[in-house]
Amino acid sequence: KLTRIGLAGLAVMGQNLALNIAEKGFPISVYNRTTSKVDETIERAKAEGNLPVFGFHDPESFVQSIQKPRVIIMLVKAGAPVDQTIKTLSAYMEKGDCIIDGGNEWYENTERREKAMTELGLLYLGMGVSGGEEGARNGPSLMPGGSFEAYKYIEDIVLKVAAQVPDSGPCVTYIGKGGSGNFVKMIHNGIEYGDMQLIAEAYDVLKSVGKLSNEELKNVFSEWNRGELQSFLIEITADIFGIKDDKGDGYLVDKVLDKTGMKGTGKWTVQQAAELSVAAPTIEASLDSRFLSGLKEERTEAAKVFKSGGFGDILDDQVVDKERLIDDVRQALYASKICSYAQGMNLIRAKSIEKGWDLKLGELARIWKGGCIIRAIFLDRIKKAYDRNSDLANLLVDPEFAKEIIDRQSAWRRVVCLAINSGISTPGMSASLAYYDTYRRERLPANLVQAQRDYFGAHTLISISHLPPWYRLFSSPGILRLVGLDALSESWITTINFN
Ligand code: 6PG
Repeated sequence: KLTRIGLAGLAVMGQNLALNIAEKGFPISVYNRTTSKVDETIERAKAEGNLPVFGFHDPESFVQSIQKPRVIIMLVKAGAPVDQTIKTLSAYMEKGDCIIDGGNEWYENTERREKAMTELGLLYLGMGVSGGEEGARNGPSLMPGGSFEAYKYIEDIVLKVAAQVPDSGPCVTYIGKGGSGNFVKMIHNGIEYGDMQLIAEAYDVLKSVGKLSNEELKNVFSEWNRGELQSFLIEITADIFGIKDDKGDGYLVDKVLDKTGMKGTGKWTVQQAAELSVAAPTIEASLDSRFLSGLKEERTEAAKVFKSGGFGDILDDQVVDKERLIDDVRQALYASKICSYAQGMNLIRAKSIEKGWDLKLGELARIWKGGCIIRAIFLDRIKKAYDRNSDLANLLVDPEFAKEIIDRQSAWRRVVCLAINSGISTPGMSASLAYYDTYRRERLPANLVQAQRDYFGAHTLISISHLPPWYRLFSSPGILRLVGLDALSESWITTINFN
């Protein structure tokens, strides 16, 4: 008897997703190059309720065990291993069959592979999968993009496998063509970086300035998780503060090295922001903070230099009212988060326009409400903002978000000022605040930058000796403005500065 679907790549994510699919009633074939992983998965399937998982030790019998048109999900490391797996599997696949990449892949790789697959008569999807191991097992958020025909063929499966959120349905939707599923997942991760950084800054202010103990921090975060900040990341943060070190001498969080790793999606997000000319300062600050955290040895040396200069770790002379500080930090975190999501959403929109993907921002907020790492009650507000106005230029100007920011801005400014005066960096919160303060002002000092560009731009041209004097005179912006040809003067400036 043939199975409904196959899954190749049985590291923890792959195993868990296979078990989830089987549990939802879809018999599944599984394959892994290292065959012990196949046996391990079968053992788990038995132990977790005799789930219909069928293991294969060679790719050919694996592919042939699946009903046609065949669908195979790959969960292997992004990059070369994906190409290798495609090569192995596609050798046994037939026209109309489909391969789905469930990894954190660079979207252009997916587009390249989709093209190559089309030439073989195969269908291809790049599907973002979020939620970590637990999500994969019990309900992830899924972001499939690529062939719509392929999506239709797996729709019944993904609708059941994805996280289910009451009143808003399964956390999956067809994202769009090409590499859009991977792109959206990449931005999800960029937003995840931002959220984690903002939470870490809240922790730093509360711990270093407010002198809160881990126990107090746990209570504060648990409390926050009952309000507007309710989210997976706040919830696990509260849990983390409660974990004792296994040697029983203190708390785990204090023993963890202050050096953050990363796998690449956050960096890609920032690179894309630059490519698209979209400001994403909060996400950028979170990436920079990871870079700086990585310089642990340098920072240790730097600390010595500045300590001998009379500076301690923090400037300790701040007198704070604990209760008020906790409430201020909560508000600062929430307002900063709005700015960070506004940046992520605008990145998605800009890419959607560039690629003609026609992505629906409100729908993306909906499928992020459950299953994924950034899942939060807050995403419902984002969805509603786009329901109210799908052409919203920026989340900040949605009337509800605008009001929330206005209500919180005093607290937000107090926290950032307090951090600055205490010598604590809050790059994410500060970047968010600067984003807001820049975006909301009708007139910026950009006029001066533009004037400077005109000034040295014009200077450059005039110094080109081969141009005749009459040309120099009449083409200078000052003269053009004088005779009322401002528009022409602008294009002149643009041309000159561009050169
Ligand atoms: C998820 C996560 C997951 C992982 C990312 C980011 O949605 O389940 O985003 O994909 O956490 O790869 O990881 P790094 O912090 O290692 O870059």
